[in-house]
Amino acid sequence: MNNRVFNTDRRIKLGIWGLGRGQNFVNSARALNIDVVAGCDINQSMRDAFTRNVPGAYVTDNEDDFLAQDFDAVLVATYFPDHVKHAIKALEAGKHVMSEVTSFQTPAEGVKLVEAVEKSGKIYHLLENYPFMKDNMYLKKLWDEGFFGDFIYGEYEYVHCARQLAYAYNFYVDGKNLPVEPGWAVHNWRAALNPHSYNTHSLGPLMVITGLRPVAVEAFPSTVPMPGGLIIGDRPAKGSGASLVRMSNGGVMRNLMGSMTMDNHTGGRLWGTKAGADKMTRGHLRLCIGADGEGFKFEVTPEWPDAELGKLCDAAGHGGGDFWELYYFARELLTGEKGPWNVYAASDVTLAGILAGRSARRNGEPQRIPDFRLREDRDAYRDDNGADIPHFDAENGCFPPDADKEIVKDFNVVMRDLYHNYGLMRQVFTALQGMSIYKSLTNRADQYEIVRSVDTLRRNLPEIAAVCRKAERIANAYPDSVGGATIRYALANAPLDKIYNTEKTIAELDAWLAETLKNG
Ligand SMILES: NC(=O)c1ccc[n+]([C@@H]2O[C@H](COP(=O)([O-])OP(=O)(O)OC[C@H]3O[C@@H](n4cnc5c(N)ncnc54)[C@H](O)[C@@H]3O)[C@@H](O)[C@H]2O)c1
Repeated sequence: MNNRVFNTDRRIKLGIWGLGRGQNFVNSARALNIDVVAGCDINQSMRDAFTRNVPGAYVTDNEDDFLAQDFDAVLVATYFPDHVKHAIKALEAGKHVMSEVTSFQTPAEGVKLVEAVEKSGKIYHLLENYPFMKDNMYLKKLWDEGFFGDFIYGEYEYVHCARQLAYAYNFYVDGKNLPVEPGWAVHNWRAALNPHSYNTHSLGPLMVITGLRPVAVEAFPSTVPMPGGLIIGDRPAKGSGASLVRMSNGGVMRNLMGSMTMDNHTGGRLWGTKAGADKMTRGHLRLCIGADGEGFKFEVTPEWPDAELGKLCDAAGHGGGDFWELYYFARELLTGEKGPWNVYAASDVTLAGILAGRSARRNGEPQRIPDFRLREDRDAYRDDNGADIPHFDAENGCFPPDADKEIVKDFNVVMRDLYHNYGLMRQVFTALQGMSIYKSLTNRADQYEIVRSVDTLRRNLPEIAAVCRKAERIANAYPDSVGGATIRYALANAPLDKIYNTEKTIAELDAWLAETLKNG
């Protein structure tokens, strides 16, 4: 392939607004007739990284200067609650828009966005990438051929723990996430994110595969938070968000999001009237054929719908999904052929999340999902500003305003150290749980992992005890604050007896290692 995807020399000039996630698209853009010519971020280190990534591109921290530049389209990847404000501002500046998920925070904002897109005559796409992973593209192709028949039921999920991102950026320095500064001010939106609102990676694939839209949703409140997540009263900021969604053909899907154990970013199961599919992890797709529950069930190896384009997809992020969302946008600009995520589909999926949250706050009360293609539905929600959505002040909300900054300045670092990707709490639990299941492990590589984890724990236990003591000092100073409650719940769910009896525990770990290695 000569890296030419569209049969035209026309190029699209793109500005990227928000240079964290926003920079993930730079490489795929080149092959899709897209030239990244400008970037905007309020954070200097993001701007520096962009300048290294796209030498010669214009870069600024000023959004007005940015939008005044000569380019065709903006990719909005700023803070989650600001997507709608920035998308509308870019449309009004005469730019086409790609917006990261999700599109808006309240129904009233959704109405404003839809009407701004209509008024502008510009193209708006939501950057929902999970439908465009290889397995989901393969299912979509089969679906369109009628392989599955009509949709009966589905289960999709996007479970991603990532609790450290409340306290630190998705940006690594010396193998650890860079903590948010100042240390008592948690991350703008990730800290207090309601799991229902981040629903596009699970409902999105089902919508694209089946071509159906969500029409109603209901959800019970889930009151068990994940230790290590920020505890904000009884809000489910870190925990689960499960809803049942009625689709436009009368079928039902279970949509699960959350920050829990056992991440699953791509899981899905589908039941149609003629066939079923079961895909609980990426790359493993099991089909049931024969239009019967006892039909043949076997694994298939999904292929990209276009092998040549597939070569470009494999190099892009999120299993190729990041490539396809740019592809559909460029295709619509260059050829007029529509992509799957216009502003109406974006509203459908975003509203399903907002209204699932509302249903949970109303103890499971079913919510109709309006169709913003219809004028009467827009009028009904024009003033719905989501007054019931609780606000959390990420900059000042974790500790009392007069808190001793010398004490609370370490909050983010402590929480990051305990819960980053290979964090201290994970080391503790991996070793202790691994020892209890060791005898049931048959795979040598798995056994080796556990032995290695126990050895790591015996070396790091003094550091782990020191970090827990530091955390306790912060919690004891402000026990009733959000920060204090967060630490207290986290430590209450940790084996502190083992951690604080450091010498005794190290002796036990040594004895286990000696015994295990002796037995081969
Ligand atoms: N589709 C996916 O797979 C996927 C993956 C990651 C993130 N996302 C989405 O992308 C968005 C960005 O994610 P992130 O990980 O970079 O998160 P983030 O919130 O940490 O970063 C947003 C970036 O925007 C910058 N910013 C914020 N307001 C700005 C403004 N007014 N002007 C200029 N710059 C501004 C920030 O400095 C930061 O660099 C999120 O809303 C998230 O939902 C999607």
